[in-house]
Amino acid sequence: MKLAFIGIGKVGFAIASHLQKKGHQIIVAGNNPDSESVKKALAECSDFSLLPVQKAVDAADMVFLATPFNANEAALQGIAFQGKTLVDCTNPVGPGISHGLRSECSGSELVQELAPDAKVVKAFSIYGFENFADSAFPGYDVKPAMLIAGNDAAAKQQVAAINTDMGFETVDTGALSQALHLEHMTLLWVKMVRAGGHHPHFTWAYLEKAL
Ligand SMILES: NC(=O)c1ccc[n+]([C@@H]2O[C@H](COP(=O)([O-])OP(=O)(O)OC[C@H]3O[C@@H](n4cnc5c(N)ncnc54)[C@H](OP(=O)(O)O)[C@@H]3O)[C@@H](O)[C@H]2O)c1
Repeated sequence: MKLAFIGIGKVGFAIASHLQKKGHQIIVAGNNPDSESVKKALAECSDFSLLPVQKAVDAADMVFLATPFNANEAALQGIAFQGKTLVDCTNPVGPGISHGLRSECSGSELVQELAPDAKVVKAFSIYGFENFADSAFPGYDVKPAMLIAGNDAAAKQQVAAINTDMGFETVDTGALSQALHLEHMTLLWVKMVRAGGHHPHFTWAYLEKAL
């Protein structure tokens, strides 16, 4: 698939470089060719291409948003998605690793408001970027779980296929409003790892007893 990335920093690059190795075509969506992260990504992966954001979105089958949460409005302003899937990897984080929107609504629902003609799916948000670059856990019989949320079933299927390519088991948590709870899982992971000393290559798995 052709995958466009708005934001190609730690998260965007980890996902994009992993998916390129799985045969996907990566388009960096950027209006600023002098951006340090864009220059670094293109230097490290010569097969990535760079297009202005709207052209990248037009050319892509699916788009990833991996910008700082407070940059989302500027990043999405005036961009037409024409029904394409927009994977929201962003997290609203407030002071003291709190929910940046005071848990009143999810960041993904705000992203959906900013991109009303996109099918927003929350994914790639609940772990640190290290696990997106390398999601292999040798020695385990279960795959790491990728919890997603969204309102459109076809868009979630598209994201599930990407998750499979990257070695994750998709767990569909339901509608986009569930993203609020995924964002709290993010805060839990961040507090455990970045502040609590747990190893950054740590994920959750989904175990269900078949009865
Ligand atoms: N770090 C993690 O482990 C992690 C894990 C899961 C989710 N997240 C979430 O993922 C998002 C990205 O995090 P990150 O760690 O990858 O951040 P990062 O390394 O700082 O990368 C941010 C990217 O967004 C670009 N950007 C900034 N403002 C922009 C704008 N107005 N328009 C377009 N692009 C813009 C930056 O470009 P420039 O280089 O030009 O500034 C850079 O490519 C955040 O919302 C974060 O909460 C982070």
